[in-house]
Amino acid sequence: MDRYKKVRGMHDILPGETGKWQFTEASLSDSAKLHGYSEIRPPVIEERMLFERSIGASSDIVSKEIYAFQDRKGRNLALRPEGTASVVRAFIESETSVPGKITRLYYCGPMFRYDRPQKGRYRQFYQFGVELLGGKHPFFDGEAVALLDFMVRKLNITGYHFAINTLGCQECKSAYTDIVRNALSAKEGTLCEDCRTRLHTSTLRIFDCKNMECRESAASAPAVTETLCGECMDHFAEFEEYIKKAGIPYKKQTGLVRGLDYYTRTVFELYVAGDDNAVAAGGRYDSLVRELGGPDTPAVGFALGMERLISIVNFNLKKIPSVYLAAMGKPAALKGISIVNALRNEGIAAETDYEDKGLKAHLKNADRSGAQWCLIIGERELEKNEFILKNMVTGEQENLPEDGYLNRIKKAIQ
Ligand code: HAM
Repeated sequence: MDRYKKVRGMHDILPGETGKWQFTEASLSDSAKLHGYSEIRPPVIEERMLFERSIGASSDIVSKEIYAFQDRKGRNLALRPEGTASVVRAFIESETSVPGKITRLYYCGPMFRYDRPQKGRYRQFYQFGVELLGGKHPFFDGEAVALLDFMVRKLNITGYHFAINTLGCQECKSAYTDIVRNALSAKEGTLCEDCRTRLHTSTLRIFDCKNMECRESAASAPAVTETLCGECMDHFAEFEEYIKKAGIPYKKQTGLVRGLDYYTRTVFELYVAGDDNAVAAGGRYDSLVRELGGPDTPAVGFALGMERLISIVNFNLKKIPSVYLAAMGKPAALKGISIVNALRNEGIAAETDYEDKGLKAHLKNADRSGAQWCLIIGERELEKNEFILKNMVTGEQENLPEDGYLNRIKKAIQ
């Protein structure tokens, strides 16, 4: 018989791992709520065009990595490769925008990119993201970085820093793109095949090429900070002032361009020592809401890669107390029905096995289940109206009278 395997680039989050995910998601949600964010849950499927118009048709994400398909009615759809475009679409469609109002939204869920699978890179991966819509002041960019800093500190992550840069407003960004294109045209021969195309379609992405020579050629072009208008310079300076004041570790990196088209001005990435992959990334996108048909709404946000984040958290998860009931024979099993329910009502995890088996087999089951305690009821215990409580870690056991057993168990377990 053929055994099915998971699809390349997909991964199961097995029971041994899900506790870490639940803990991390809860910690991130708590941090977001403390900063005034509310949760939004957009769908996984959107119109393909939404991503072309936002992330960019010539970006790698859309041109090479999108999971696109037609539904039975011939609609061109796609599995979302990221969350920002969907959140902005929902924000516009729900007409929740009020001029002057700041809207803070967070989301968590699976994203899909037909990327080359490797460590920290999957085709289905999870992001936790936040989007702040309606804030123009550079301190909002600072607040976004400070929230990300707060989130990772709450998870006791150390040895990290932020890479920061600015791309300038739409005008500065397009002027800078021309400057880089002109500078690199003379070096076209040194560029890889992809970058020779990028030179004409998405010039700034040459800074991001995996090929060292291309990155070196890009680095020889003037730095973006030398070409900005006064307002963009001030915006970046004030953003930097905020994060400096907040004591956030950062490095300026003029080659940081990001792989999505919608960014304007501030961009940032979060790195942990010893890992070349960013754990989180984001920036400002002041034109996106308008470009997707909404009112003029400046915005800033970021997304954390959950797999990458979870791989660097040191977990020390508390187990809830758990009891395995070893009931031997039908009368004991019948008595067990109310016992397991009473335990669960007290917040103690309880499980049992209904197959007729002896104590040895039950204890083996108890061991496999990971329960810290085993409650044993056999014929003798039924006769004497008592139970045996066995500590599965130390092996010690004690007899409990049936009367008031629940309080005795609670006491023994604490
Ligand atoms: P991004 O840089 O494409 O930005 O993705 C953000 C994070 O998602 C990355 O830093 C990484 O941790 C994780 N990630 C991306 N691709 C993969 C993958 N194939 N496998 C595992 N993890 C991955 C965005 O998606 C923007 N929407 C962020 C944003 C929100 N900007 C403004 N608001």
